[in-house]
Amino acid sequence: MSAPSMTLFHNTLSPFVRKVMVLLHETGQQDRVALQDCVLTPVSPNAALNEDNPLGKIPALRLADGNVIHDSRVILDYLDHQHVGNPLIPRDGSARWRRLTLASMADGIMDASVMVRYEQVLRAPEKHWDEWLEAQRDKIRRTLALLEHDAIAELTSHFDVAAISVACALGYLDLRFPDLGWREANPQLANWFFEVSQRPSMIATMPKI
Ligand code: BEZ
Repeated sequence: MSAPSMTLFHNTLSPFVRKVMVLLHETGQQDRVALQDCVLTPVSPNAALNEDNPLGKIPALRLADGNVIHDSRVILDYLDHQHVGNPLIPRDGSARWRRLTLASMADGIMDASVMVRYEQVLRAPEKHWDEWLEAQRDKIRRTLALLEHDAIAELTSHFDVAAISVACALGYLDLRFPDLGWREANPQLANWFFEVSQRPSMIATMPKI
């Protein structure tokens, strides 16, 4: 095994980082990347990360030539061009736009979830903006409902960028919002998530608190 040639700014709790880790495992590239753990929130930035990504966000990936790429969508695209197996992001045609749109819905669930989490744990309770929190939760519920009704067959068909992204979004909901009750409202999605959670890539990347 050769030494890792890339460095991933990483936090096991980030669903965006998890997408990258799952793709690395699914494509057999996990040994190519060293992990640099980053502890950060929007109000307690990570100085080392800021030097490489002025947005101060993870994941960011330092390549072998020293260049740093971000965000998670760019990193997934890059890594999907670095292996010889079937692409996990369709290269062209309508499949590309559909799978990326499903992945974008999952990213939106993650965005809303992480913002709710930050509002709840970083802001003083008396400053919580309840209407905004509820609007974020509505966004999550609406998107899950669409996936439940329109996308189960597509998610089941192959474990690619779309499925990886949705699986990581659901994993984050379980991690931070175990009382959300998303399974009751979305039983097909719950069954699908149970199945994909058995994959070695999902087991290896389970968030650890
Ligand atoms: C979390 O602790 O929920 C978290 C950590 C890093 C990025 C996003 C979320």
